[in-house]
Amino acid sequence: MFHQPGETFYEQVGGHDTFVALVSAFYDGVKADPELRALYPEEDLAPAERRLRMFLEQYFGGPSSYNDERGHPRLRMRHAPFAVTLDMRDRWLRHMYAAMDTLDLPEAHAEAMRDYFFRAAHMLVNTDDPGSRS
Ligand code: HEM
Repeated sequence: MFHQPGETFYEQVGGHDTFVALVSAFYDGVKADPELRALYPEEDLAPAERRLRMFLEQYFGGPSSYNDERGHPRLRMRHAPFAVTLDMRDRWLRHMYAAMDTLDLPEAHAEAMRDYFFRAAHMLVNTDDPGSRS
């Protein structure tokens, strides 16, 4: 694909299709991880998958459907009901990095996304691990 210099990050990584594939692979990982899965209140993960997809599309320069539907992201506040420990952060990140590896992203873009996910996930830790190993 040819990239115009004026394209957004969102367009450069492949736009909507890329984010659909990313969150789909990510939630496959969540579904296969009973401890992380237990944090998600809904039996059907499709609505959560859609919210994450809209948020990420917006964050990386795509359409602002997340804001239109959900308002300001306030991610820390929205994660307050869930016990996000270091262990859960690591699980979340492992599934997100694995999901990224299923895509054929330009390396500089992949690096920027991993960096963002690492920092965002750490910011959302809100609970000490029981018997923390650290
Ligand atoms: C650190 C580990 C994380 C855990 C354990 C976690 C867990 C959860 C859970 C249980 C939900 C509720 C599911 C739902 O939407 O109904 C949720 C929602 C959400 N999470 Fe996370 N999350 C983590 C990190 C992140 C990160 C790093 C991001 C963004 C880069 C993110 C973005 C979102 C968004 C956008 C929602 C939907 C908020 C809404 O509109 O209600 N999460 N997360």
